[in-house]
Formats: sequence, C-alpha cells, structure tokens
Amino acid sequence: MILRPDNRVNLKRMNEPIPTSEEPITEIEQSYVVRELRLTDVPQVEQIARQWVRFPPETGPVIEEEVQEMIELMQESIKLQNNRHYFVSTDKAENVVGFVCLADLEPKMQQFSTTENPIELKNLYVQQGKRRGKGVGSALYNFAKDWSRAKGYTEIILNSGPRYKKTGWPFYQIIIGDPIGMLKDFYGPGNGAPVWREDL
Ligand SMILES: CC(C)(COP(=O)(O)OP(=O)(O)OC[C@H]1O[C@@H](n2cnc3c(N)ncnc32)[C@H](O)[C@@H]1OP(=O)(O)O)[C@@H](O)C(=O)NCCC(=O)NCCS
Repeated sequence: MILRPDNRVNLKRMNEPIPTSEEPITEIEQSYVVRELRLTDVPQVEQIARQWVRFPPETGPVIEEEVQEMIELMQESIKLQNNRHYFVSTDKAENVVGFVCLADLEPKMQQFSTTENPIELKNLYVQQGKRRGKGVGSALYNFAKDWSRAKGYTEIILNSGPRYKKTGWPFYQIIIGDPIGMLKDFYGPGNGAPVWREDL
C-alpha cells in the first residue's frame, strides 16, 4: 500500500481526541499545522490566492475582483459576520502555506446533497512550491472533514472549476475518487465543474 501524506496524517491522529477549533493540531510531516484563520494571516493568504486566482491558470493576470471578494469574505468571517469558516496551514515560523474555506451549500450544489446536513468546501489553495509531496492540501482537506464531522455536518461537497483542471481535479480524483456529477456551464458557457462529495 502506498502511504500518502493524507494517510500519514490520519494514522498519527488515530488515537487523538477531536480537536477544538482553537488548537493547532494537524501535524503534516511534523512541519506544518492547521488552525483557524486569524486577521494577521490575511496578507499571506492573499498572496497565495493571487498565485492561483488567474486566467489562464498560473500564467495569466490575477482576477482582482475575485481576490478582493475572497478577502472581504474572510475578514467578515473573522468578525463572525457570515457563516464561513477558514483554516490555514502554517509552518513552524507561522508562515501560511495554504488555506481552505467551509461554507453553506450554494443553491446549485443542493441537487448533489444526499444527507441532512451538508457543508461545502471552497477555496482550497496551497502556496506554489509547497504543493505535491508535502501533504499540505490533503491535510487541509482532512482537517476540514474532521472539523465538519465534529460540528455535526453529515457530508462534504465541492466543485472545482475548469481553471483547476490540471491542479485540483487530479487531486480530488486521488483523495476522493470519481466525481458524482457535473455542474454544466457553472463558470460560464462551456465551463462546467465536476462535483465531489463524501459522507462524514
Ligand atoms: C490542489 C491542491 C490544493 C493540492 O494540494 P497539495 O498540497 O499539492 O496536495 P497533496 O500534496 O496533499 O497531494 C496529495 C496527493 O494528491 C496527488 N496530487 C496532487 N496534485 C496533483 C496533480 N496536480 N496531479 C496529479 N496528482 C496530484 C498526488 O498523488 C499527491 O501526492 P504526491 O504528489 O506526494 O504523490 C494544490 O495543488 C493547489 O493549491 N492547487 C492550485 C489550486 C487548486 O487547484 N485548488 C483546488 C481548487 S477547487
């Protein structure tokens, strides 16, 4: 059996109690932790968002409007002004290397829900240079699942737009499996998004 970073995290944590949201807990190869977003993290989170919110992916210009909206939603969530929850992965020096968001299900995602209390995963981004092989993305995903389960959510659902076809789609295919459906034209004509879900 291939021991992937996500498995390593799970094996380490198998006998540990479910975390409270205050504590840094998820160890990723003993170098990174996952914890709730703080206001002081926002500038670093913005830098990571700016690496990925681009079109064409990676090389194109930053989609400024989308980044600004993301940052505003983050700041609101810290002030408890919306129902979003953001988590960051940080290294030993407290540098942010990735982040993820959990939110209420968007209306168009509801058709894919099969249990009573779904939650949607959004904005999973890992810093360029910290991807692949360090387990940051899978640890953020596993943290989001553990947190959601502890809060009483029954399934986690996400979609991934065509911008992330080469980065997000293969990742979700490996950590979750086949998508359960497709949101046709969700990101504009011809720009569909596969949808993944997992029971919690
Ligand atoms: C998708 C993303 C969050 C994954 O984060 P990550 O830290 O690279 O993920 P992990 O290292 O935990 O990956 C676990 C395994 O998934 C697989 N994987 C991840 N990305 C992959 C890719 N692009 N192609 C093939 N396999 C991939 C690998 O098997 C990887 O392990 P390995 O590289 O050590 O063999 C990160 O690549 C990212 O930020 N991408 C850009 C933004 C994006 O696509 N976000 C999703 C938006 S919906």
